[in-house]
Amino acid sequence: MKVGIVGCGTIGKIVAKAIDEEIDGLELTSVCDIDRKKAVDLIKSLRKKPDIAENIVQLAEDTDFIVESASADVVGKLLKIAVEKKKNVMIMSVGGVLDNLDLVEKIKKSKDCEIFFPSGAIVGIDGLNAARERKIQSVILTTSKPPQALAGAPYITQHGINLDSINKPTVIFEGNCLEAVKAFPKNINISAMLSIAGVGVEKTKVRIIADPKLTRNIHKFNAKGEFGEMEVKVENVPSPANPKTSYIAALSAIATLKKMVSSVKLGT
Ligand SMILES: NC(=O)c1ccc[n+]([C@@H]2O[C@H](COP(=O)([O-])OP(=O)(O)OC[C@H]3O[C@@H](n4cnc5c(N)ncnc54)[C@H](O)[C@@H]3O)[C@@H](O)[C@H]2O)c1
Repeated sequence: MKVGIVGCGTIGKIVAKAIDEEIDGLELTSVCDIDRKKAVDLIKSLRKKPDIAENIVQLAEDTDFIVESASADVVGKLLKIAVEKKKNVMIMSVGGVLDNLDLVEKIKKSKDCEIFFPSGAIVGIDGLNAARERKIQSVILTTSKPPQALAGAPYITQHGINLDSINKPTVIFEGNCLEAVKAFPKNINISAMLSIAGVGVEKTKVRIIADPKLTRNIHKFNAKGEFGEMEVKVENVPSPANPKTSYIAALSAIATLKKMVSSVKLGT
């Protein structure tokens, strides 16, 4: 299967290397990035050299499966291409899907293309998937980060929160996923993923804690439903190349690709 990668940054590089070295059955044929130098640098690190596409339309022409590891802005365009050109896609910038849920519905009904959402920086999506086969009553996400990881978010600026003055774990925000998306647009992939896999953007509750003692991002969620109750927690190590991206997010992309081509499928 011919694979293209949109976005040659932290995740794109790790996924490209895995396709090049570890995954039989996939061939990386094309990459693109708005910063061409990133694509050129990525290719240098690979044994089999893919082409550089000028844009995602060109990249789609040369591939069967497109990995998005760029930004939320490209997600809508990519989903349209998936529907129109009958391509399969894997989305990392899950937050970008929330504005395009109509296209996800179209893909759900279509038999011509598929969309993959790796669990990214959250864990427990397998359990939530099983739980949603029956009624889920609640999903509450609690994300704890070092204060500076929240710097620049609209909510912090609008409320005049002085992150430097936080000297103990402090609840900064509580609301639903829809409100969290507007308040912290750069921290939304996890809540978006949970809401898509669980009870939707309005019913998924989000709490954000700034904790000055933390060196890792900690995500916990609690879900209750007919299945019982689950408490899931992960402490994420930042990627060496980009502290904003948890290493496990890139690993989940690799695992999703391996599951796709493997005849042994683990997890729900
Ligand atoms: N699902 C999750 O849990 C999860 C976890 C971490 C990161 N992410 C998301 O995955 C995406 C990639 O993360 P990363 O750490 O690799 O980021 P990064 O900044 O290291 O790399 C992104 C690359 O994409 C390129 N790019 C940006 N916009 C583009 C566009 N419109 N077209 C083509 N290229 C474009 C950039 O130039 C850069 O090289 C981000 O949107 C990030 O929010 C998701």
